[in-house]
Amino acid sequence: MRPNAWPRSGYNEARLPTVQEALQSAQQALQPHSETAPLDAQVLLAHVMHVPRTWVLIHPEAPLSTAQQAALQAAVSQLRAGTPLPYVLGVWAFYGRDFEISPAVLIPRPETELLVETALAWLDAHPRAERLAEAGTGSGCIAVSLAAERPHLHIVAGDISAAALIIARRNAQRHAVRVHFLQADLLAPLAPRTCDLICANLPYIPTATLQQLTVYQKEPTLALDGGPDGLTVIRRLLAQAETRLTREGCLLLEIEATQGESAPRAARKVFPKAQIDVLPDLAGHPRVLRVLV
Ligand SMILES: C[S@@+](CC[C@H](N)C(=O)[O-])C[C@H]1O[C@@H](n2cnc3c(N)ncnc32)[C@H](O)[C@@H]1O
Repeated sequence: MRPNAWPRSGYNEARLPTVQEALQSAQQALQPHSETAPLDAQVLLAHVMHVPRTWVLIHPEAPLSTAQQAALQAAVSQLRAGTPLPYVLGVWAFYGRDFEISPAVLIPRPETELLVETALAWLDAHPRAERLAEAGTGSGCIAVSLAAERPHLHIVAGDISAAALIIARRNAQRHAVRVHFLQADLLAPLAPRTCDLICANLPYIPTATLQQLTVYQKEPTLALDGGPDGLTVIRRLLAQAETRLTREGCLLLEIEATQGESAPRAARKVFPKAQIDVLPDLAGHPRVLRVLV
């Protein structure tokens, strides 16, 4: 935002603005750019004041420091310039925990929590399973969540992006969990028959579809672009998983809503004898491809 573009809401510039005044100004500045301007303003203000969002709602009279005022203006400018809110905050919630994020990684999505829940259910039904691999870990949200929920697991999580792995490692430290991270093309470095469970949320959006989406060029294309039919990376992983999974192992892949038939068909070619199904997300859309070998 240009320095003089910060809307004034009538507060006396000789004194520090109150929470209520700062909220009004931020909301006014965000209105043309966001359908959720009031909420965004509250979230940003809570973020720069290091307080819960409810605190700003019940302390309208509290003053902002000069530093907080400057931080709020900078954050509002980023949102106005089109930066997604989670990148402005630098942190986003997934499966009940906060994860550091940056534009080097995909913003964790609530749909992906189904993959974590399905993995935990399978692990509970297979108590002797302990070796888990995740391909395309990004922020590490899947691997770190599983490590936090089941600390006995030996987890290897890879990504082709070195920048993503820096964030993933920090998230493992943040939650004090043990995950072995490695830079890799999918599961290429893993030896045959070493994974009881393989999980992945890989790029699965067809290239032409991606280019029409608002996330295009806002989140890493490497994390989203699944090639002409969205299944290019998934097919490669299926082929690698076939040799890496142990006997009676399980493969769980997040898929796009339109891949409810094409993804299991691709899996069937690689795993002709496996039990293969697709689990729906809360909206009823096909979301997790499950292969039980
Ligand atoms: C859809 S994002 C998922 C990130 C994270 N697991 C999540 O669920 O939020 C896909 C990730 O796969 C990574 N990736 C893309 N191609 C890859 C490849 N060939 N090998 C390993 N990782 C890859 C991207 O860098 C990105 O971090």
